[in-house]
Amino acid sequence: MTYNHIPVMLEEVIQGLNLQKGKNYIDCTLGGAGYTLKIAQNIGDGKVLGIDLDTKAIKNAEEKIKKSKIKNIILTHDNFKNLSQIVKKNFKQEWIKNIGGIIFDLGLSSAQLEDRSRGFSFLVDAALIMNFNQEAEENKTADYILNNYSEKELAEIFEKYGEERFAKRIARGIEEQKQISPIKTTFQLVEIIKKVVPKKFHYAKIHPATKVFQALRISVNDELTNLLLVLKDSLALLPSGSRLAVVSFHSLEDRLVKNFFRQEAKDCICPPSYPACRCQHKARLKILTKKIIQPTEQEVESNPRSRSAKLRVAEKI
Ligand SMILES: C[S@@+](CC[C@H](N)C(=O)[O-])C[C@H]1O[C@@H](n2cnc3c(N)ncnc32)[C@H](O)[C@@H]1O
Repeated sequence: MTYNHIPVMLEEVIQGLNLQKGKNYIDCTLGGAGYTLKIAQNIGDGKVLGIDLDTKAIKNAEEKIKKSKIKNIILTHDNFKNLSQIVKKNFKQEWIKNIGGIIFDLGLSSAQLEDRSRGFSFLVDAALIMNFNQEAEENKTADYILNNYSEKELAEIFEKYGEERFAKRIARGIEEQKQISPIKTTFQLVEIIKKVVPKKFHYAKIHPATKVFQALRISVNDELTNLLLVLKDSLALLPSGSRLAVVSFHSLEDRLVKNFFRQEAKDCICPPSYPACRCQHKARLKILTKKIIQPTEQEVESNPRSRSAKLRVAEKI
């Protein structure tokens, strides 16, 4: 099985996690298993739990683990939004108390982007699925959203999750096409976008369909909701001194992580207008990346997909 994905900022992530021999780690976004394998090789008899929603990622990792004869990796096909249940179902309290860190590498892998059966890329003609989970319900596909949501709802999705300036025009174009026939493929969607977006934007730095595809993917997979849920879960699971590391690829994700880290690094989160603290909030994180970490020029040159990556790391107090 070929599953292409080059791990992004691998060295920086490993350093950020500050791996300790004998500790356990959780990779919530297994993907091509780049981080999982590297962590497993550097923690002695500690264990790594690798989670992914994509059955192909799990299968690929199983093959790699078998070939490399590494024994300290446990794989689970699940949504990371269920992190605390997954951990409690699979491990005893001693394992949990011994967690050294949790890592997220958000978004999708190169293998998923290139997979013709998924519809993640506007450069490949494919059915509009865009779900990380091949076993998801029927109404959890981009095709379902496009053909069943109203023009207003679609415009909101493109604005909220894509920050797309032509959201309303694109939603109108989709609505008009739906009156003729349903939208089923990526290239059909790209054609609609190109028809309604002014020509001068067709040759801008990014492809005119980029933001709509991002918005649909975020919406199909409830990405931002799940991320906030799992950050809260992670904080509850992590023992004092352990690390939380997140690699994000667009501003919506990064903003959410930044705000979460900032809020959890504060002792009081009352509005500034309150004369005295009423919230009793206590800081639970120490931010270790005051300046976010980004890939080096060499990495971007050898792996252009890494160019928008941002790494944030915090330590549980
Ligand atoms: C960028 S890739 C990870 C690459 C990995 N770090 C590596 O080194 O190969 C992101 C992975 O996260 C998975 N994923 C995204 N959202 C998820 C979720 N809510 N639960 C579990 N896995 C998820 C995707 O299926 C994808 O395989």
